[in-house]
Amino acid sequence: MTNEEYKKLSIDGFTKVAEKYPDRHYTGLDLTPAMIEQARKKNIPNAEFVVGDCENFPFDENAFDVIICSNSFHHYPNPQAFFDSVKRCLRPGGRLILRDVTSDNRLLLWFMDNIELPIANMLGHGDVRAARRKTVMECCKKAGLKVEKFEIRKGMRMHCVIRKA
Ligand SMILES: C[S@@+](CC[C@H](N)C(=O)[O-])C[C@H]1O[C@@H](n2cnc3c(N)ncnc32)[C@H](O)[C@@H]1O
Repeated sequence: MTNEEYKKLSIDGFTKVAEKYPDRHYTGLDLTPAMIEQARKKNIPNAEFVVGDCENFPFDENAFDVIICSNSFHHYPNPQAFFDSVKRCLRPGGRLILRDVTSDNRLLLWFMDNIELPIANMLGHGDVRAARRKTVMECCKKAGLKVEKFEIRKGMRMHCVIRKA
């Protein structure tokens, strides 16, 4: 996949949600300015886009009803900082939907961390570590977030619903 295709793929998911629920306001965030530029070109009326770090959201406390983190978590060197940031910026009762690649199979995790991610990094992806159930559970507990759902779909696709009490 080319870099251009990669950027389009990323923004399309966001666009679909914003089109489906046009009465809501959306904020898209990414660390990479080129991703934000691509997103702004879509001219989605009910959305704004900011360059920022998920490990330290540039937003106020209790700012969001829902935070959706899609296929980005495996880039974070400090997952605890991400969950602490989510806890601060979600409103009470708000939810985080966290999706990424994962597995409970140790061999598969080893393959992801030692083969797949390093190859992706050679192509400039900046991947850090495949998501672990244990990491999600422990970090959420420390942050004071409740994991309502942790599913592994199609063998490798993590789908989590996490709530701020
Ligand atoms: C595999 S792409 C996925 C993009 C998109 N969220 C999607 O669902 O297709 C991973 C994205 O995470 C972004 N990213 C990596 N570390 C980040 C961080 N600390 N804060 C915000 N975004 C980050 C990268 O810039 C990249 O655009």
